[in-house]
Amino acid sequence: MPTLEIDGQRITVEDGVNLIEAAERLGIEIPHYCYHPGLTVAGNCRMCLVEIEKMPKLQIACNTRATEGMVIRTQSDRVKEVRAAVLEFLLINHPIDCPICDQAGECKLQDYYMDYDRQESRFALEDKVHKEKALDIGPLIMLDQERCILCTRCVRFLDEVTKTSELGVFERGNHCAIDLFPGRRLDNHYSGNVADICPVGALTNKDFRFRARVWYLERTPSVCATCATGCNIDIHHRRGEMYRFRPRHNPDVNQYWMCDEGRLSYQRYQGEGRLLQPVSREGDRWAVRGWDDARVEVVERIRAAIAAHGPNAVAAVISAQATNEEVFLADRLFRGHLQARVAALSWSPADALHDDFLIDADKNPNSAGLRLLASDAGLDAVIAAARSGAIRVLALLRSDLLGPCGESLLDALADSVEFVVALDTHFSRTAEIADVLLPIGSFAETDGTFINRSRRVQRVREAIPPPGQARPGWQVLSELRRDLGGPAVPADASAVFTELAASHASFRHLSYARLGDAGLALEGAPSR
Ligand code: SF4
Ligand code: SF4
Ligand code: FES
Repeated sequence: MPTLEIDGQRITVEDGVNLIEAAERLGIEIPHYCYHPGLTVAGNCRMCLVEIEKMPKLQIACNTRATEGMVIRTQSDRVKEVRAAVLEFLLINHPIDCPICDQAGECKLQDYYMDYDRQESRFALEDKVHKEKALDIGPLIMLDQERCILCTRCVRFLDEVTKTSELGVFERGNHCAIDLFPGRRLDNHYSGNVADICPVGALTNKDFRFRARVWYLERTPSVCATCATGCNIDIHHRRGEMYRFRPRHNPDVNQYWMCDEGRLSYQRYQGEGRLLQPVSREGDRWAVRGWDDARVEVVERIRAAIAAHGPNAVAAVISAQATNEEVFLADRLFRGHLQARVAALSWSPADALHDDFLIDADKNPNSAGLRLLASDAGLDAVIAAARSGAIRVLALLRSDLLGPCGESLLDALADSVEFVVALDTHFSRTAEIADVLLPIGSFAETDGTFINRSRRVQRVREAIPPPGQARPGWQVLSELRRDLGGPAVPADASAVFTELAASHASFRHLSYARLGDAGLALEGAPSR
Protein backbone atom coordinates (compact mmCIF):
# COMPACT_ATOMS: atom_id res chain seq x y z
CA MET A 1 0.00 0.00 0.00
CA PRO A 2 2.24 2.84 -1.22
CA THR A 3 1.71 6.39 0.02
CA LEU A 4 2.49 9.15 -2.46
CA GLU A 5 1.96 12.86 -2.95
CA ILE A 6 0.10 14.33 -5.91
CA ASP A 7 -0.07 18.12 -6.28
CA GLY A 8 0.67 18.49 -2.56
CA GLN A 9 -1.98 15.99 -1.41
CA ARG A 10 -1.04 12.65 0.15
CA ILE A 11 -2.85 9.43 -0.70
CA THR A 12 -2.36 5.73 0.04
CA VAL A 13 -3.44 3.32 -2.69
CA GLU A 14 -3.31 -0.43 -3.26
CA ASP A 15 -0.29 -1.91 -5.00
CA GLY A 16 -0.55 -1.73 -8.77
CA VAL A 17 -2.75 1.38 -9.03
CA ASN A 18 -1.53 3.73 -11.76
CA LEU A 19 -1.09 7.48 -11.40
CA ILE A 20 -4.23 8.38 -13.41
CA GLU A 21 -6.39 6.40 -10.98
CA ALA A 22 -4.50 7.52 -7.87
CA ALA A 23 -4.99 11.16 -8.91
CA GLU A 24 -8.65 10.56 -9.74
CA ARG A 25 -9.27 9.43 -6.17
CA LEU A 26 -8.03 12.84 -5.04
CA GLY A 27 -10.34 14.55 -7.53
CA ILE A 28 -7.43 15.45 -9.82
CA GLU A 29 -7.97 14.72 -13.51
CA ILE A 30 -4.90 13.74 -15.47
CA PRO A 31 -6.01 14.16 -19.09
CA HIS A 32 -5.79 11.01 -21.17
CA TYR A 33 -6.98 9.53 -24.46
CA CYS A 34 -5.60 6.05 -24.92
CA TYR A 35 -5.96 4.87 -21.33
CA HIS A 36 -9.21 3.08 -20.48
CA PRO A 37 -9.53 1.24 -17.17
CA GLY A 38 -11.20 -1.75 -18.85
CA LEU A 39 -8.39 -2.27 -21.38
CA THR A 40 -4.64 -2.92 -21.36
CA VAL A 41 -2.36 0.11 -21.28
CA ALA A 42 -1.13 1.27 -24.70
CA GLY A 43 0.69 4.45 -23.67
CA ASN A 44 0.57 5.97 -27.14
CA CYS A 45 -1.26 9.31 -26.86
CA ARG A 46 1.21 11.02 -24.46
CA MET A 47 -1.56 13.23 -23.10
CA CYS A 48 -1.08 11.97 -19.54
CA LEU A 49 2.53 13.10 -19.06
CA VAL A 50 3.29 14.25 -15.50
CA GLU A 51 6.35 15.40 -13.60
CA ILE A 52 7.75 12.97 -11.04
CA GLU A 53 10.32 14.27 -8.59
CA LYS A 54 13.83 12.87 -9.13
CA MET A 55 12.99 11.80 -12.70
CA PRO A 56 14.52 14.04 -15.33
CA LYS A 57 11.94 13.32 -18.04
CA LEU A 58 8.16 13.60 -17.84
CA GLN A 59 6.48 10.21 -17.44
CA ILE A 60 3.17 8.85 -18.71
CA ALA A 61 0.78 8.50 -15.78
CA CYS A 62 -1.21 5.64 -17.35
CA ASN A 63 1.78 3.30 -17.38
CA THR A 64 3.39 4.40 -14.10
CA ARG A 65 2.38 2.61 -10.93
CA ALA A 66 2.12 4.48 -7.69
CA THR A 67 5.16 3.69 -5.50
CA GLU A 68 6.10 4.65 -1.98
CA GLY A 69 7.28 8.22 -1.53
CA MET A 70 6.57 9.41 -5.09
CA VAL A 71 6.00 13.15 -5.48
CA ILE A 72 3.93 13.99 -8.58
CA ARG A 73 3.09 17.32 -10.18
CA THR A 74 0.23 17.35 -12.68
CA GLN A 75 -0.13 21.10 -13.16
CA SER A 76 3.43 22.43 -13.49
CA ASP A 77 4.38 24.72 -16.40
CA ARG A 78 6.39 21.90 -17.99
CA VAL A 79 3.37 19.59 -17.88
CA LYS A 80 1.01 22.23 -19.26
CA GLU A 81 3.43 23.07 -22.04
CA VAL A 82 3.67 19.46 -23.13
CA ARG A 83 -0.13 19.04 -23.03
CA ALA A 84 -0.49 22.01 -25.37
CA ALA A 85 2.14 20.48 -27.65
CA VAL A 86 0.39 17.09 -27.72
CA LEU A 87 -2.89 18.82 -28.61
CA GLU A 88 -1.26 20.89 -31.32
CA PHE A 89 0.14 17.68 -32.76
CA LEU A 90 -3.23 15.90 -32.64
CA LEU A 91 -4.95 18.84 -34.29
CA ILE A 92 -2.54 19.13 -37.22
CA ASN A 93 -4.72 16.95 -39.35
CA HIS A 94 -7.90 16.67 -37.33
CA PRO A 95 -10.84 18.31 -39.14
CA ILE A 96 -12.77 21.05 -37.37
CA ASP A 97 -16.02 19.12 -37.61
CA CYS A 98 -17.29 20.13 -34.20
CA PRO A 99 -20.55 21.80 -35.31
CA ILE A 100 -21.71 18.60 -36.99
CA CYS A 101 -19.77 15.99 -35.01
CA ASP A 102 -21.94 13.89 -32.75
CA GLN A 103 -19.25 13.73 -30.11
CA ALA A 104 -19.49 17.50 -29.51
CA GLY A 105 -20.26 17.99 -25.84
CA GLU A 106 -18.45 14.82 -24.78
CA CYS A 107 -15.35 15.02 -26.98
CA LYS A 108 -12.07 14.84 -25.10
CA LEU A 109 -10.30 16.66 -27.93
CA GLN A 110 -12.60 19.66 -27.54
CA ASP A 111 -12.47 19.53 -23.75
CA TYR A 112 -8.71 19.30 -23.46
CA TYR A 113 -8.20 21.90 -26.22
CA MET A 114 -10.22 24.35 -24.13
CA ASP A 115 -8.38 23.35 -20.95
CA TYR A 116 -4.79 23.31 -22.17
CA ASP A 117 -4.28 24.62 -25.69
CA ARG A 118 -6.43 27.37 -27.14
CA GLN A 119 -3.81 28.43 -29.66
CA GLU A 120 -4.27 29.27 -33.31
CA SER A 121 -3.24 26.41 -35.55
CA ARG A 122 0.10 26.94 -37.24
CA PHE A 123 -1.02 24.64 -40.03
CA ALA A 124 -3.10 25.78 -42.99
CA LEU A 125 -6.49 24.15 -43.35
CA GLU A 126 -5.77 23.14 -46.93
CA ASP A 127 -2.61 21.27 -45.89
CA LYS A 128 -4.48 18.77 -43.73
CA VAL A 129 -4.16 15.11 -44.73
CA HIS A 130 -7.57 13.86 -45.79
CA LYS A 131 -8.82 10.38 -44.98
CA GLU A 132 -12.11 8.57 -45.40
CA LYS A 133 -15.18 10.06 -43.77
CA ALA A 134 -18.52 8.43 -42.90
CA LEU A 135 -17.42 4.84 -43.50
CA ASP A 136 -20.18 2.34 -42.80
CA ILE A 137 -18.19 -0.36 -41.00
CA GLY A 138 -20.93 -2.37 -39.33
CA PRO A 139 -24.63 -2.55 -38.52
CA LEU A 140 -24.28 -0.10 -35.64
CA ILE A 141 -21.12 1.87 -36.26
CA MET A 142 -19.82 4.58 -38.60
CA LEU A 143 -16.10 5.43 -38.83
CA ASP A 144 -14.65 8.82 -39.63
CA GLN A 145 -10.94 8.21 -40.14
CA GLU A 146 -10.08 11.92 -40.19
CA ARG A 147 -11.33 12.45 -36.67
CA CYS A 148 -9.43 9.47 -35.25
CA ILE A 149 -6.51 10.26 -32.96
CA LEU A 150 -5.17 6.68 -33.10
CA CYS A 151 -5.55 5.97 -29.42
CA THR A 152 -6.28 2.29 -30.32
CA ARG A 153 -8.95 1.89 -27.65
CA CYS A 154 -11.30 0.39 -30.26
CA VAL A 155 -8.64 -2.01 -31.50
CA ARG A 156 -7.81 -3.15 -27.98
CA PHE A 157 -11.50 -3.57 -27.11
CA LEU A 158 -11.98 -5.85 -30.10
CA ASP A 159 -8.77 -7.76 -29.38
CA GLU A 160 -9.19 -8.11 -25.64
CA VAL A 161 -12.90 -8.02 -24.78
CA THR A 162 -14.79 -9.48 -27.74
CA LYS A 163 -11.66 -11.18 -29.14
CA THR A 164 -13.02 -10.64 -32.64
CA SER A 165 -10.31 -8.23 -33.92
CA GLU A 166 -12.23 -6.60 -36.75
CA LEU A 167 -10.28 -3.32 -36.67
CA GLY A 168 -6.58 -2.59 -37.02
CA VAL A 169 -4.16 0.31 -37.59
CA PHE A 170 -2.98 0.54 -41.18
CA GLU A 171 -0.32 2.60 -43.04
CA ARG A 172 2.37 4.78 -41.45
CA GLY A 173 2.96 8.35 -40.27
CA ASN A 174 0.43 10.96 -41.39
CA HIS A 175 -1.43 8.32 -43.37
CA CYS A 176 -1.93 6.01 -40.42
CA ALA A 177 -5.65 5.10 -40.08
CA ILE A 178 -8.01 2.78 -38.27
CA ASP A 179 -9.77 0.45 -40.68
CA LEU A 180 -11.48 -2.91 -41.01
CA PHE A 181 -9.32 -5.88 -41.84
CA PRO A 182 -10.02 -6.89 -45.46
CA GLY A 183 -13.27 -8.76 -45.86
CA ARG A 184 -14.46 -8.01 -42.33
CA ARG A 185 -17.41 -6.04 -40.90
CA LEU A 186 -17.74 -4.79 -37.34
CA ASP A 187 -20.74 -6.91 -36.50
CA ASN A 188 -20.13 -8.73 -33.21
CA HIS A 189 -22.76 -8.65 -30.46
CA TYR A 190 -20.96 -5.91 -28.52
CA SER A 191 -19.97 -3.57 -31.36
CA GLY A 192 -21.75 -0.52 -29.93
CA ASN A 193 -19.22 -0.23 -27.13
CA VAL A 194 -16.53 1.07 -29.49
CA ALA A 195 -18.50 4.29 -29.97
CA ASP A 196 -18.73 4.74 -26.19
CA ILE A 197 -14.99 4.39 -25.66
CA CYS A 198 -13.80 6.39 -28.68
CA PRO A 199 -12.68 9.63 -27.00
CA VAL A 200 -13.40 11.69 -30.13
CA GLY A 201 -16.06 11.51 -32.83
CA ALA A 202 -14.31 8.95 -35.01
CA LEU A 203 -16.62 6.07 -34.12
CA THR A 204 -20.27 6.99 -33.82
CA ASN A 205 -23.42 5.04 -33.30
CA LYS A 206 -25.68 5.08 -36.37
CA ASP A 207 -28.71 4.88 -34.18
CA PHE A 208 -27.83 8.11 -32.36
CA ARG A 209 -26.11 10.14 -35.11
CA PHE A 210 -27.64 13.57 -35.69
CA ARG A 211 -30.54 12.92 -33.32
CA ALA A 212 -29.62 15.07 -30.32
CA ARG A 213 -26.92 17.25 -28.83
CA VAL A 214 -25.68 15.49 -25.74
CA TRP A 215 -25.87 18.56 -23.53
CA TYR A 216 -29.65 18.60 -23.90
CA LEU A 217 -29.99 15.03 -22.66
CA GLU A 218 -30.68 13.99 -19.09
CA ARG A 219 -29.28 10.75 -17.67
CA THR A 220 -31.06 8.37 -15.36
CA PRO A 221 -29.19 5.38 -13.92
CA SER A 222 -31.06 2.12 -14.55
CA VAL A 223 -30.66 -1.51 -15.57
CA CYS A 224 -31.12 -3.18 -18.96
CA ALA A 225 -34.25 -5.35 -18.99
CA THR A 226 -33.47 -7.46 -22.04
CA CYS A 227 -31.86 -10.44 -20.30
CA ALA A 228 -31.16 -11.81 -16.83
CA THR A 229 -27.68 -10.26 -16.60
CA GLY A 230 -29.07 -6.83 -15.74
CA CYS A 231 -26.27 -4.71 -17.21
CA ASN A 232 -26.13 -1.33 -15.54
CA ILE A 233 -27.06 1.48 -17.92
CA ASP A 234 -27.72 5.17 -18.13
CA ILE A 235 -30.91 6.12 -19.94
CA HIS A 236 -30.34 9.29 -21.96
CA HIS A 237 -33.62 11.08 -22.44
CA ARG A 238 -35.25 14.42 -23.08
CA ARG A 239 -38.81 15.64 -22.76
CA GLY A 240 -40.23 12.19 -22.25
CA GLU A 241 -38.32 10.54 -25.10
CA MET A 242 -35.44 8.10 -24.77
CA TYR A 243 -32.49 8.64 -27.10
CA ARG A 244 -30.02 5.96 -26.12
CA PHE A 245 -28.86 3.47 -23.52
CA ARG A 246 -25.24 3.60 -22.46
CA PRO A 247 -23.45 1.06 -20.25
CA ARG A 248 -22.73 2.22 -16.69
CA HIS A 249 -19.71 0.83 -14.88
CA ASN A 250 -20.47 -1.91 -12.39
CA PRO A 251 -17.56 -4.25 -11.65
CA ASP A 252 -19.93 -6.87 -10.19
CA VAL A 253 -22.21 -7.07 -13.23
CA ASN A 254 -21.11 -5.76 -16.63
CA GLN A 255 -17.80 -3.95 -16.03
CA TYR A 256 -17.93 -1.14 -18.64
CA TRP A 257 -19.92 -2.88 -21.36
CA MET A 258 -23.33 -3.88 -22.69
CA CYS A 259 -24.52 -5.88 -25.71
CA ASP A 260 -25.99 -4.38 -28.87
CA GLU A 261 -29.42 -5.94 -28.40
CA GLY A 262 -29.73 -4.38 -24.97
CA ARG A 263 -28.39 -1.07 -26.28
CA LEU A 264 -31.10 -0.82 -28.92
CA SER A 265 -33.89 -2.20 -26.75
CA TYR A 266 -35.12 1.30 -25.86
CA GLN A 267 -36.64 1.54 -29.36
CA ARG A 268 -39.19 -1.13 -28.62
CA TYR A 269 -40.71 0.94 -25.80
CA GLN A 270 -41.38 4.02 -27.86
CA GLY A 271 -42.31 2.48 -31.15
CA GLU A 272 -45.56 1.21 -32.52
CA GLY A 273 -47.97 -0.84 -30.49
CA ARG A 274 -47.82 0.81 -27.08
CA LEU A 275 -50.99 0.68 -25.06
CA LEU A 276 -51.88 4.29 -24.34
CA GLN A 277 -55.21 4.05 -22.53
CA PRO A 278 -57.40 1.45 -20.86
CA VAL A 279 -59.56 -0.31 -23.44
CA SER A 280 -62.20 -2.98 -23.36
CA ARG A 281 -63.54 -5.27 -26.01
CA GLU A 282 -66.81 -4.29 -27.61
CA GLY A 283 -67.67 -6.83 -30.26
CA ASP A 284 -64.77 -6.81 -32.69
CA ARG A 285 -63.38 -3.40 -31.69
CA TRP A 286 -61.64 -1.86 -28.70
CA ALA A 287 -63.48 0.87 -26.80
CA VAL A 288 -61.50 3.45 -24.83
CA ARG A 289 -62.32 3.45 -21.12
CA GLY A 290 -61.55 5.74 -18.22
CA TRP A 291 -59.24 4.24 -15.60
CA ASP A 292 -61.88 4.16 -12.87
CA ASP A 293 -64.38 2.60 -15.20
CA ALA A 294 -62.03 -0.09 -16.41
CA ARG A 295 -60.87 -0.92 -12.90
CA VAL A 296 -64.42 -1.15 -11.58
CA GLU A 297 -65.25 -3.65 -14.31
CA VAL A 298 -62.20 -5.80 -13.47
CA VAL A 299 -62.99 -5.71 -9.74
CA GLU A 300 -66.65 -6.61 -10.33
CA ARG A 301 -65.76 -9.53 -12.60
CA ILE A 302 -63.31 -10.89 -10.02
CA ARG A 303 -65.82 -10.49 -7.18
CA ALA A 304 -68.61 -12.12 -9.16
CA ALA A 305 -66.43 -15.09 -10.19
CA ILE A 306 -65.36 -15.73 -6.60
CA ALA A 307 -68.89 -15.29 -5.24
CA ALA A 308 -70.30 -17.76 -7.73
CA HIS A 309 -67.50 -20.32 -8.05
CA GLY A 310 -64.98 -19.76 -5.22
CA PRO A 311 -61.43 -18.33 -5.33
CA ASN A 312 -60.17 -21.08 -7.65
CA ALA A 313 -62.24 -19.52 -10.40
CA VAL A 314 -59.68 -16.70 -10.57
CA ALA A 315 -56.06 -17.08 -11.68
CA ALA A 316 -53.19 -14.74 -12.39
CA VAL A 317 -50.10 -15.24 -14.54
CA ILE A 318 -47.18 -13.09 -13.37
CA SER A 319 -44.15 -12.86 -15.60
CA ALA A 320 -40.47 -12.33 -14.97
CA GLN A 321 -40.77 -9.12 -16.97
CA ALA A 322 -42.44 -7.58 -13.91
CA THR A 323 -40.50 -5.74 -11.21
CA ASN A 324 -40.23 -7.20 -7.72
CA GLU A 325 -42.72 -4.61 -6.53
CA GLU A 326 -45.26 -5.69 -9.15
CA VAL A 327 -44.67 -9.40 -8.47
CA PHE A 328 -45.06 -8.84 -4.74
CA LEU A 329 -48.29 -6.84 -5.11
CA ALA A 330 -49.80 -9.25 -7.63
CA ASP A 331 -48.93 -12.31 -5.54
CA ARG A 332 -50.24 -10.65 -2.37
CA LEU A 333 -53.45 -9.68 -4.11
CA PHE A 334 -54.27 -12.85 -6.01
CA ARG A 335 -52.81 -15.61 -3.86
CA GLY A 336 -52.72 -13.86 -0.48
CA HIS A 337 -55.86 -11.73 -0.42
CA LEU A 338 -58.16 -13.48 -2.91
CA GLN A 339 -56.71 -16.99 -2.40
CA ALA A 340 -56.73 -17.42 -6.17
CA ARG A 341 -54.21 -19.39 -8.21
CA VAL A 342 -50.96 -17.79 -9.36
CA ALA A 343 -48.64 -19.07 -12.09
CA ALA A 344 -45.12 -17.72 -12.57
CA LEU A 345 -44.00 -17.24 -16.18
CA SER A 346 -40.31 -17.01 -17.07
CA TRP A 347 -40.11 -17.95 -20.72
CA SER A 348 -37.41 -17.51 -23.36
CA PRO A 349 -37.14 -19.07 -26.83
CA ALA A 350 -35.28 -22.40 -26.82
CA ASP A 351 -32.65 -21.02 -29.20
CA ALA A 352 -32.18 -17.72 -27.32
CA LEU A 353 -28.80 -16.10 -27.87
CA HIS A 354 -26.30 -16.45 -25.03
CA ASP A 355 -22.56 -16.41 -24.54
CA ASP A 356 -20.01 -16.81 -21.77
CA PHE A 357 -19.69 -13.05 -21.27
CA LEU A 358 -22.80 -10.92 -20.65
CA ILE A 359 -25.63 -12.19 -22.85
CA ASP A 360 -27.88 -14.63 -20.98
CA ALA A 361 -30.28 -17.14 -22.57
CA ASP A 362 -32.91 -16.04 -20.05
CA LYS A 363 -34.48 -13.03 -21.76
CA ASN A 364 -36.28 -11.90 -18.62
CA PRO A 365 -34.81 -9.30 -16.27
CA ASN A 366 -36.36 -10.68 -13.11
CA SER A 367 -36.60 -14.48 -13.12
CA ALA A 368 -34.81 -14.63 -9.77
CA GLY A 369 -37.22 -12.11 -8.23
CA LEU A 370 -40.24 -13.98 -9.59
CA ARG A 371 -38.98 -17.25 -8.10
CA LEU A 372 -38.50 -15.62 -4.71
CA LEU A 373 -41.66 -13.56 -4.48
CA ALA A 374 -44.42 -15.44 -6.30
CA SER A 375 -45.95 -18.73 -5.32
CA ASP A 376 -46.26 -20.87 -8.43
CA ALA A 377 -49.15 -23.18 -9.08
CA GLY A 378 -47.51 -24.05 -12.41
CA LEU A 379 -48.43 -22.49 -15.74
CA ASP A 380 -49.45 -25.83 -17.24
CA ALA A 381 -51.85 -26.52 -14.35
CA VAL A 382 -53.43 -23.08 -14.60
CA ILE A 383 -53.79 -23.35 -18.39
CA ALA A 384 -55.34 -26.81 -18.04
CA ALA A 385 -57.79 -25.49 -15.44
CA ALA A 386 -58.61 -22.56 -17.71
CA ARG A 387 -59.24 -24.84 -20.66
CA SER A 388 -61.52 -27.05 -18.58
CA GLY A 389 -63.66 -23.99 -17.83
CA ALA A 390 -62.77 -23.95 -14.13
CA ILE A 391 -61.20 -20.48 -14.39
CA ARG A 392 -63.64 -17.69 -15.05
CA VAL A 393 -61.28 -14.70 -14.69
CA LEU A 394 -57.66 -14.72 -15.83
CA ALA A 395 -55.33 -11.80 -15.05
CA LEU A 396 -52.09 -11.45 -17.01
CA LEU A 397 -49.27 -9.28 -15.64
CA ARG A 398 -46.71 -8.47 -18.36
CA SER A 399 -47.35 -12.03 -19.51
CA ASP A 400 -47.06 -12.84 -23.18
CA LEU A 401 -48.47 -16.35 -23.55
CA LEU A 402 -47.76 -16.70 -27.28
CA GLY A 403 -44.27 -18.19 -26.77
CA PRO A 404 -45.06 -20.78 -24.10
CA CYS A 405 -48.58 -21.63 -25.33
CA GLY A 406 -48.71 -21.03 -29.09
CA GLU A 407 -51.55 -19.55 -31.15
CA SER A 408 -54.08 -22.37 -30.97
CA LEU A 409 -53.89 -22.66 -27.18
CA LEU A 410 -54.29 -18.90 -26.92
CA ASP A 411 -57.46 -19.08 -28.99
CA ALA A 412 -58.69 -21.98 -26.89
CA LEU A 413 -58.11 -19.91 -23.75
CA ALA A 414 -60.08 -17.04 -25.24
CA ASP A 415 -63.01 -19.43 -25.73
CA SER A 416 -62.86 -21.14 -22.34
CA VAL A 417 -62.20 -18.19 -19.96
CA GLU A 418 -65.06 -15.73 -19.47
CA PHE A 419 -62.98 -12.66 -18.70
CA VAL A 420 -59.29 -11.91 -19.34
CA VAL A 421 -57.63 -8.74 -18.07
CA ALA A 422 -54.07 -7.93 -19.19
CA LEU A 423 -51.76 -5.37 -17.59
CA ASP A 424 -49.11 -4.70 -20.19
CA THR A 425 -47.14 -2.18 -22.22
CA HIS A 426 -47.97 -3.34 -25.75
CA PHE A 427 -50.73 -4.72 -27.91
CA SER A 428 -49.72 -8.28 -28.73
CA ARG A 429 -51.16 -11.56 -29.89
CA THR A 430 -51.86 -12.32 -26.22
CA ALA A 431 -53.62 -8.95 -25.81
CA GLU A 432 -56.04 -10.09 -28.51
CA ILE A 433 -57.59 -12.62 -26.13
CA ALA A 434 -58.16 -9.99 -23.42
CA ASP A 435 -61.45 -8.35 -22.55
CA VAL A 436 -59.84 -5.41 -20.77
CA LEU A 437 -56.34 -4.03 -21.37
CA LEU A 438 -54.77 -1.85 -18.69
CA PRO A 439 -51.71 0.09 -19.97
CA ILE A 440 -48.69 0.13 -17.64
CA GLY A 441 -45.25 1.73 -17.86
CA SER A 442 -42.17 -0.05 -19.17
CA PHE A 443 -39.18 -0.60 -16.89
CA ALA A 444 -37.91 2.83 -17.98
CA GLU A 445 -41.18 4.44 -16.94
CA THR A 446 -41.56 3.05 -13.45
CA ASP A 447 -39.61 2.82 -10.20
CA GLY A 448 -38.78 -0.65 -9.04
CA THR A 449 -36.21 -3.39 -8.69
CA PHE A 450 -35.09 -6.52 -10.55
CA ILE A 451 -32.95 -9.39 -9.29
CA ASN A 452 -30.37 -10.48 -11.82
CA ARG A 453 -28.91 -13.91 -12.51
CA SER A 454 -26.35 -13.50 -9.70
CA ARG A 455 -29.15 -12.63 -7.26
CA ARG A 456 -28.19 -8.97 -7.18
CA VAL A 457 -31.06 -6.58 -6.43
CA GLN A 458 -30.86 -3.54 -8.71
CA ARG A 459 -32.96 -0.40 -9.13
CA VAL A 460 -34.79 0.77 -12.21
CA ARG A 461 -36.13 4.28 -12.21
CA GLU A 462 -38.86 6.27 -13.89
CA ALA A 463 -36.59 8.03 -16.40
CA ILE A 464 -39.58 9.24 -18.41
CA PRO A 465 -43.30 9.17 -17.58
CA PRO A 466 -45.44 6.35 -18.99
CA PRO A 467 -46.96 7.44 -22.34
CA GLY A 468 -50.57 8.47 -22.75
CA GLN A 469 -52.76 7.32 -19.89
CA ALA A 470 -50.45 4.44 -18.93
CA ARG A 471 -49.56 4.18 -15.24
CA PRO A 472 -46.78 2.46 -13.31
CA GLY A 473 -47.66 -1.21 -12.75
CA TRP A 474 -47.22 -1.01 -8.97
CA GLN A 475 -49.83 1.76 -8.89
CA VAL A 476 -52.42 -0.13 -10.95
CA LEU A 477 -51.96 -3.28 -8.83
CA SER A 478 -52.20 -1.26 -5.61
CA GLU A 479 -55.44 0.34 -6.80
CA LEU A 480 -56.91 -3.06 -7.67
CA ARG A 481 -55.82 -4.36 -4.27
CA ARG A 482 -57.48 -1.41 -2.53
CA ASP A 483 -60.69 -1.81 -4.52
CA LEU A 484 -60.80 -5.50 -3.64
CA GLY A 485 -60.63 -4.71 0.08
CA GLY A 486 -56.89 -4.42 0.62
CA PRO A 487 -54.88 -1.57 2.18
CA ALA A 488 -54.63 1.99 0.84
CA VAL A 489 -52.49 2.70 -2.24
CA PRO A 490 -48.83 3.24 -1.17
CA ALA A 491 -47.39 6.68 -1.84
CA ASP A 492 -44.70 5.38 -4.17
CA ALA A 493 -42.76 2.32 -5.28
CA SER A 494 -40.33 2.77 -2.42
CA ALA A 495 -43.18 2.24 0.05
CA VAL A 496 -44.09 -0.99 -1.78
CA PHE A 497 -40.47 -2.12 -1.48
CA THR A 498 -40.51 -1.37 2.26
CA GLU A 499 -43.62 -3.54 2.60
CA LEU A 500 -41.93 -6.27 0.55
CA ALA A 501 -38.70 -6.11 2.58
CA ALA A 502 -40.67 -6.43 5.81
CA SER A 503 -42.34 -9.63 4.65
CA HIS A 504 -39.47 -11.49 2.94
CA ALA A 505 -36.48 -12.47 5.03
CA SER A 506 -33.92 -12.26 2.24
CA PHE A 507 -34.84 -8.60 1.57
CA ARG A 508 -34.88 -7.49 5.17
CA HIS A 509 -31.57 -5.66 5.00
CA LEU A 510 -32.52 -3.75 1.84
CA SER A 511 -34.08 -0.39 0.98
CA TYR A 512 -33.94 1.84 -2.10
CA ALA A 513 -31.43 4.06 -0.32
CA ARG A 514 -29.19 1.11 0.49
CA LEU A 515 -29.41 -0.29 -3.04
CA GLY A 516 -28.10 2.99 -4.46
CA ASP A 517 -27.02 2.99 -8.09
CA ALA A 518 -24.92 -0.19 -7.94
CA GLY A 519 -27.42 -2.57 -6.30
CA LEU A 520 -26.68 -5.15 -3.61
CA ALA A 521 -26.44 -8.94 -3.54
CA LEU A 522 -29.20 -10.79 -1.73
CA GLU A 523 -27.94 -12.59 1.32
CA GLY A 524 -26.53 -15.96 0.30
CA ALA A 525 -26.02 -14.88 -3.32
CA PRO A 526 -22.94 -16.29 -5.05
CA SER A 527 -20.21 -13.74 -5.68
CA ARG A 528 -19.15 -13.24 -9.28
S1 SF4 B 1 -11.38 5.30 -33.83
FE1 SF4 B 1 -11.58 6.31 -31.83
S2 SF4 B 1 -11.14 4.67 -30.37
FE2 SF4 B 1 -10.39 3.99 -32.34
S3 SF4 B 1 -8.28 4.60 -32.38
FE3 SF4 B 1 -9.40 6.24 -33.37
S4 SF4 B 1 -9.84 7.68 -31.73
FE4 SF4 B 1 -9.21 5.79 -30.75
S1 SF4 C 1 -26.24 -8.62 -21.81
FE1 SF4 C 1 -28.40 -8.68 -21.28
S2 SF4 C 1 -28.66 -7.14 -19.67
FE2 SF4 C 1 -26.68 -6.78 -20.68
S3 SF4 C 1 -27.10 -5.25 -22.24
FE3 SF4 C 1 -27.27 -7.25 -23.20
S4 SF4 C 1 -29.44 -7.79 -23.04
FE4 SF4 C 1 -29.06 -6.11 -21.61
S1 FES D 1 -3.26 7.97 -21.58
FE1 FES D 1 -1.18 7.73 -21.09
S2 FES D 1 -0.24 7.78 -22.98
FE2 FES D 1 -2.33 7.89 -23.49
